[in-house]
Amino acid sequence: MLAEIQERPGIETELIDFATLPIPSDEAGDAAKDPAFAETMNRADAIVIVAPEYNHGYPGLLKHVLDTNLPEYIHKAAGVVGVSAGIFGGARMIQDLLPVLRELGLVTIFWDVNVNNARTRFDESGKLVDGSFLAIDKFIDELVWMAETLRHGREHVTIGGGS
Ligand SMILES: Cc1cc2nc3c(=O)[nH]c(=O)nc-3n(C[C@H](O)[C@H](O)[C@H](O)COP(=O)(O)O)c2cc1C
Repeated sequence: MLAEIQERPGIETELIDFATLPIPSDEAGDAAKDPAFAETMNRADAIVIVAPEYNHGYPGLLKHVLDTNLPEYIHKAAGVVGVSAGIFGGARMIQDLLPVLRELGLVTIFWDVNVNNARTRFDESGKLVDGSFLAIDKFIDELVWMAETLRHGREHVTIGGGS
């Protein structure tokens, strides 16, 4: 996804491996905040979440990391890429994650990427073997549109009337 998004001109991207963030597991919300992650979210216009499906849900660690911020996400665009060993490409994980993203103030696009049969989709270097079935271009088009529209809204449209 990073490589695909980086092909688009005018988009600055940053990869965050949520498994490596220094976020304690015995605190929650602001108390567990990683300042660097919060600052990245503050600057971002959009977030692409790439996550595996575990027992038909999203990884608990992903939820814990997302929960450490809130104002940083509000009125920002979000898209989700599901990865699974099975045939549904993380579809059930995505369905469960959508209401969480909404509660965080993120605005989700109506397009997902579903990487099914993940064990056969990548070569030994980790490169996607055949991504044509994934409609990644459509996903990125929608995400960029939503990110630009929401940025315009954040900068020019006042909540509660007026512009
Ligand atoms: C605890 C656990 C639960 C899983 N549950 C599902 C599942 O519900 N559906 C599915 O298609 N794959 C499931 N898988 C397979 C993962 O989606 C698959 O391994 C995916 O590539 C995740 O990458 P990882 O193995 O590197 O964590 C599960 C894997 C683990 C470890």
